[in-house]
Amino acid sequence: MDCPLKDNLKTFTVSTPALPEGGYPVVIGSGFLGRLRAALKEQFAGRMGFVITDRSLVQAGHLDRFLGGSQMGVYVIDPPGEVSKTMETLTSILEAMESCFLGRDTLVIALGGGTVGDIAGFAAAVFKRGVPVVHIPTTTISQADSSIGGKTGVDSTRSKNAFGVFWHPAAVYMDTETLQTLDEVQYRAGLAESIKHAAIADAGFFAWLEKNADLLLKRDPAVLEHLACQNCRIKASVVMEDPLEKNRRRVLNYGHTIGHALEALSGYSLLHGQAVAIGMIAAGRIEKEMGLVGDDRLERIEALLTKLGLATRAAGTYPPQKILELLKLDKKSVGRRPRFVLLEKLGSVLCRDGQWALEVPEEIVEKVLVRLADTV
Ligand code: GLY
Repeated sequence: MDCPLKDNLKTFTVSTPALPEGGYPVVIGSGFLGRLRAALKEQFAGRMGFVITDRSLVQAGHLDRFLGGSQMGVYVIDPPGEVSKTMETLTSILEAMESCFLGRDTLVIALGGGTVGDIAGFAAAVFKRGVPVVHIPTTTISQADSSIGGKTGVDSTRSKNAFGVFWHPAAVYMDTETLQTLDEVQYRAGLAESIKHAAIADAGFFAWLEKNADLLLKRDPAVLEHLACQNCRIKASVVMEDPLEKNRRRVLNYGHTIGHALEALSGYSLLHGQAVAIGMIAAGRIEKEMGLVGDDRLERIEALLTKLGLATRAAGTYPPQKILELLKLDKKSVGRRPRFVLLEKLGSVLCRDGQWALEVPEEIVEKVLVRLADTV
């Protein structure tokens, strides 16, 4: 599907047999949000737009910038963040859509971060048995990761992303200028997913992150655009190889096995990226315990996380037994036995017997879990 915005934008195509068009564009640039609504009207002519966003986007002025005074159905998630990523919010959104008399000619527009995108994608997947969704990610986490790949869902009372479906977007529009208004803690937390991409797939990108850490923290516009492009390149290539996460796509879960458990146990006071940062250190320690580390990658990952303002130790109380229970609910678990993505070296993941997520002896996992509060 052609992008009607005629600027100097970068476009990647994510191929997937799940869409009749065979794929979708990811468009990256800066400062086009105010012109995007008109472009979508042209691109999706005949469809009724319905925006799903959250209070922080309203407060930052991004919703107004997108709407430009036009009338459109809008649902504002409040409070913003993971605590609202529930079945209750999903039901409330779907009922709001129905009360606007929307039909199968709806276009859902997800304007916001990871929570907005995950729940809006889920709403689009089930409303009238499925309508298209366009993602406009506005956070470091959603631009790096969650807006690409079609994962949608909500959390259960026990665990993260417990219920959901794959529902690929019709298009993704990343305006990196929206990152300029993002709260500092959220901004830094989301950078963990970029470090993850570099760690699993591209040592050169890791070195670039190390070199450009100061400019990243200053939110330098050119650096942010380059970051978005590198994330998109890595994420798209993995997703295209294994769109339904049968095996290879599990590499994107580096740091997530323990990370998701910590996030849920914290009652989501720990942001996703903050939990993944600690989860990557835990995964690195598992690698060390298993005798898989012959280089300084764990030290480099920890140094980069620290430089970008991310804690690498769990500050809260996370009883190992509770984490172990939650690990059994992890989607990579087989027969209640959790599996972990482990690095072979910086920039590549260890694959054994064709598997990208591996079983680890429980005593090693426990040993690492009791030391989550310690330095490396
Ligand atoms: N966030 C990991 C994935 O999309 O598979």
